[in-house]
Amino acid sequence: MASSRTPLIAGNWKMNGLSADGTALASELASRMKSAKNGGFEMLVCPPFTLISKVGAAIEGSGLQLGGQDCHSQVKGAHTGDTSAAMLADLGCHYVIVGHSERRTDHGERNEQVRAKAAAGHAAGLNVIICIGETEAERDAGKALEVNKSQVAGSLPDGATAANTVIAYEPVWAIGTGRTPTTDEVQEVHAFIRSELAARVGAEADGMRILYGGSMKPGNAAELIALPDVDGGLIGGASLQADDFWAIAQTCL
Ligand code: 13P
Repeated sequence: MASSRTPLIAGNWKMNGLSADGTALASELASRMKSAKNGGFEMLVCPPFTLISKVGAAIEGSGLQLGGQDCHSQVKGAHTGDTSAAMLADLGCHYVIVGHSERRTDHGERNEQVRAKAAAGHAAGLNVIICIGETEAERDAGKALEVNKSQVAGSLPDGATAANTVIAYEPVWAIGTGRTPTTDEVQEVHAFIRSELAARVGAEADGMRILYGGSMKPGNAAELIALPDVDGGLIGGASLQADDFWAIAQTCL
């Protein structure tokens, strides 16, 4: 974590939460944010679409940010079941996650589509979190850097800046498994991603946040977030427990 970049602690709730538990979790985090009054990190929750309005109401005025988990690449039209970036912004979102590996796997999303979704997010005024990361087979084959290089190249839209874009490095094999790369491996990939970003966006890359995601927990967050090119976390399971999510954020201070 470099002091020039404000760490971002982002919770991806995935397909979890109904009205009661979702709003209770959001309210608890909002009250901790209000009483903490520190400027040491930015905190974001990305609930399922069904809860965005309720969570937005529960966190209003707390400083906790709101985001969506996906958006369509088009502004509007005949796309049954989809949500546009403008609709997310309309609900009070400031962020949208695009290209999560679960979207890439479950919905066959490819880099070109992820790039179009990211561009749509920017056009709607949203900050975009673009997810990349290699599979276990790709890492075992020595292709981790190559895969992340091609995902950065293919998924980053023109016009990406440090202010409107965050990269999340999420090794697919670390998501929900309790396994993580070593800190040396994480730093190696993050530094490599930053150099690839620099080749695309020049000096903007110095300010662009690169999050680590994949089995981040209170017990391993401090050592991961302390790495020079790790600027926070994109957290799944542990973001569903207020104590765990808050404990992760506290490691930024
Ligand atoms: P876990 O923290 O549950 O491994 O999930 C990480 C993730 O996919 C966040 O987007």
